[in-house]
Amino acid sequence: MTGAIRLIVITSPDQLDQEWINRLAREAEIEHLDRVGSVAAGVLLARQSRPDLVIVDRDVEQIESAIRQIFSYVPSTLCIAVTPSADVPTLRRLVMAGARDVINRPIHHSDIMNSIRSVVAAERDRSVRAASNSDQRLGRLVVVVAPKGGVGATTIAANLAIALRQVTNTSVALADMGLQFGDVGVQLNIWSRHTLYDLVMHASELDDALFEKVLQTHSSSIKVLLAPHELEAAGDISGDAMRAVLQGLLARHTYVVCDTWSFLDEVTETLLQKADDVLVVTTPEVPALRNTKSFLEHLTRNELTRGRITLVLNRFPSVNGIALQDVQKHLRYPVGANIPSEGQSITHSINRGVPIVMAQPHSWASQSLLRLAAYVAGDNANPISLQHSGNKKTGKFTLPGMKGRRSLLSLMRGT
Ligand SMILES: Nc1ncnc2c1ncn2[C@@H]1O[C@H](COP(=O)(O)OP(=O)(O)OP(=O)(O)O)[C@@H](O)[C@H]1O
Ligand SMILES: [Mg+2]
Repeated sequence: MTGAIRLIVITSPDQLDQEWINRLAREAEIEHLDRVGSVAAGVLLARQSRPDLVIVDRDVEQIESAIRQIFSYVPSTLCIAVTPSADVPTLRRLVMAGARDVINRPIHHSDIMNSIRSVVAAERDRSVRAASNSDQRLGRLVVVVAPKGGVGATTIAANLAIALRQVTNTSVALADMGLQFGDVGVQLNIWSRHTLYDLVMHASELDDALFEKVLQTHSSSIKVLLAPHELEAAGDISGDAMRAVLQGLLARHTYVVCDTWSFLDEVTETLLQKADDVLVVTTPEVPALRNTKSFLEHLTRNELTRGRITLVLNRFPSVNGIALQDVQKHLRYPVGANIPSEGQSITHSINRGVPIVMAQPHSWASQSLLRLAAYVAGDNANPISLQHSGNKKTGKFTLPGMKGRRSLLSLMRGT
């Protein structure tokens, strides 16, 4: 049993010799059957109702034309051709047009039912296999989350994505999942009318062409997925759609870095559940630490993530910030990485739309971000840096031998 098949039969308008269609309609496996006496109307109906199957019972030219159109407009719909005779050239024509099976007239009920069953079963088997193959995601998901707004999550996500690209020389995507007021585009000086919303709206038909159109290429070579422009779009984005988008991103990139907003909504929770690395960003200030403590407790209590949680202390060291030991004591959680406070250079780079790892790669903040990237990429590098050890040269540099991570580490050590 294949069960619940929705079917259109495109046949001649004369209603002659069509008892086989009535018998089909009575079959328990056929959930719905539309009989259409015109090729154009049948194709239109197929485009609108996207049935599982269309059977085309016309002359060969019309069958070929109908199947070709359905195949291109609704590729998920399967087509069976019914012809008076099927010599090899005719069969080839119909198969080339996209027919899954060809049945000869006169039609016997058992023949057409067997054909329907085997065509539908083969397709369902294929799509189950395709779904399980696409579950074998290739990329690593890095989610940057801050339980308090304004602590630097976007700055870290944007720079980390670029640093990951520099460190690993692999394909990196940065996705702005700050569903309202997402400002990755501003920090990277990128604008496009295509955003996450385009992917979410086509979540069931995501393909290379759509990703290519929607993701923007930044001058650092990372791909950027912008947040929706319309504030009300956030309400239309479900966890399911987000899972499909994530799957598509992870199948196409080695690292997918997601910037998030400070709400634990369905989308953020989905990201946390799927993450390999969760970077929890905070600053050494009482309000941020207070939120971070509850967030970390919530994460661990509810087993919200199976990924590695790394607490990133941004703007540390900074003038008048709370001491590292006190931060860790208060949070009852070790600080895994820190980024120093470099107000002037970071603010300047954000205002110019050039992330600090590109604008001032030798700055302390950039070196810390590169260390963090190496750590995310799996190096044993310790991403804690309490003083700037590197040289203070400014200007752009290129990393020699970018394929290996060792060269980066020695670069960071200044050797
Ligand atoms: N290490 C740092 N040193 C100095 N300033 C920083 C640092 N990191 C971030 N900032 C500044 O903090 C401000 C907020 O940064 P950012 O937008 O990245 O935070 P956010 O957590 O993403 O905020 P939002 O809640 O609005 O999404 C920026 O103006 C940036 O210049
Ligand atoms: Mg932000």
